[in-house]
Amino acid sequence: MNLAESFKNKLKRIDNLPTLPTVLQKIIEMTSGNDASAQDVIDEMSADQSLTANLLKVANSPVYGVSKRIESIRQAVVLLGFQEVRNIALSASVFSTLEVAGRRGTFDRQVFWSHSYLVGYITRDLYKQFPDPRSQASYFTCGLLHDIGKVVLDQYFMREFFMIVDAIRERNVSACVAERDLLSMTHADIGGLLLERWKLPADQVTAVREHHTPWNTPSKLAAALYYANQLAFMLGYGSMKEEPPVTIDSFYDSEDVAWLDEKGILLPRETLSAKLDELRADEERLAKAINQSAGDSDSTSA
Ligand SMILES: [Fe+2]
Ligand SMILES: [Fe+2]
Repeated sequence: MNLAESFKNKLKRIDNLPTLPTVLQKIIEMTSGNDASAQDVIDEMSADQSLTANLLKVANSPVYGVSKRIESIRQAVVLLGFQEVRNIALSASVFSTLEVAGRRGTFDRQVFWSHSYLVGYITRDLYKQFPDPRSQASYFTCGLLHDIGKVVLDQYFMREFFMIVDAIRERNVSACVAERDLLSMTHADIGGLLLERWKLPADQVTAVREHHTPWNTPSKLAAALYYANQLAFMLGYGSMKEEPPVTIDSFYDSEDVAWLDEKGILLPRETLSAKLDELRADEERLAKAINQSAGDSDSTSA
């Protein structure tokens, strides 16, 4: 059996992957049917102190730019909307769930968290360019979760992960290229699988699965994730230190451009450049927000 086959077999074993805490499973179940009221969900969330703390931390971060401090889940729902709060609750707990369930990872979690948070922020910002009203409340949280497949690889498939990191270093290729060559699938596929197993909504599963290949889906959220990820790399916030940097020039020289153009989702160079300048001008505030979001939580900065 080759490495790709044995990897797929291991991944298939459902108990090999982490499960969500009961409270989150319950919240997903409640919010996917029509029988639970917003009040039921607020009660369920409020009963869990660490969930509440994580949620309020994100709700009060500059991503949402809410002027007065949010003190309770009820207040968060009033100000941000029910779906957004549910999504924040899920994503805020996912990182700590993986940390607790798996072994301690080998790659730099500070770097990874900074990347994830920034991609969340930019994805939400790109709603104007790639609007999908049905998924609007998921833009930030999908950005936060988009590379969750890398955490799964790092924590549950150590041997494969080391081989991927070596390949990235030796061949100066992206994680996706190394993963596809070695495992016949990428961290994006693995992230999609994980979110599917956790029964997250299909639009979020698709967007995470296609965040490096948005030309494969009509999902505007996938396109927003794709560009947010590129912009985070251009700003110097890649997800792993080992991956090669991305610049405006290298991006417009890449093979992706033809695919994006064919599907009508290629952003003109001036637009991407202007967005990059805008983010750079805001870098100090963003860096502060990233540090705060990582610093208050042991689970995410580990
Ligand atoms: Fe990725
Ligand atoms: Fe990424």
